[in-house]
Amino acid sequence: MSRLKEIEIKYEIRGLKSSDISAILAIESDSFPDPWPKTAFEEIIRQPGHGGIVVVSDSKLVAYACYLIIEHEAHLTNLAVIHSLRRKSIASGLLERILDIAMKKGCEHILLEVRPQNKSAIAFYENAGFKLLYSRPNYYRNPVEDALVMVYYFNE
Ligand SMILES: CC(C)(COP(=O)(O)OP(=O)(O)OC[C@H]1O[C@@H](n2cnc3c(N)ncnc32)[C@H](O)[C@@H]1OP(=O)(O)O)[C@@H](O)C(=O)NCCC(=O)NCCS
Repeated sequence: MSRLKEIEIKYEIRGLKSSDISAILAIESDSFPDPWPKTAFEEIIRQPGHGGIVVVSDSKLVAYACYLIIEHEAHLTNLAVIHSLRRKSIASGLLERILDIAMKKGCEHILLEVRPQNKSAIAFYENAGFKLLYSRPNYYRNPVEDALVMVYYFNE
């Protein structure tokens, strides 16, 4: 068990299970203009290389993160925290866990995509040590938007 910043709430980080998906979909549609469908989370559980972790507080799922590690290539593919518990270091805890998983699998860096309009996420990733690599044109749909590709190097 870890403790959230400033408030005395205990939370647990554990692996994503099928029974988590309906709670995840509610946070997903509240967090993104182009939420992942249910099938995307089902694939995270089924497909080799994919992984997911969730944060549970008071028996309630409050955050999740997904990743893909193939060979030594790591990708953070999704991350969201329920609105009411943002800015309490929950995403930092999830990211720390994924960085640890990727490092133990021998990855030298981890990549992610983020919408240029998503200033909160960009601020979060920059605070965590990610750097802008390049912009990938027309990556997103609904609305169409470029992606900023960011990278975190483990040995910098
Ligand atoms: C981005 C997101 C995951 C951050 O989650 P969080 O649990 O609130 O983040 P943390 O509390 O761990 O933040 C750690 C640090 O990141 C920075 N940060 C996080 N959110 C920020 C914001 N909205 N504005 C500015 N800086 C921010 C701060 O430096 C913060 O430290 P501080 O609170 O001591 O100032 C959350 O805002 C979210 O779920 N957004 C919607 C989904 C999303 O955009 N996901 C990313 C997709 S690429």
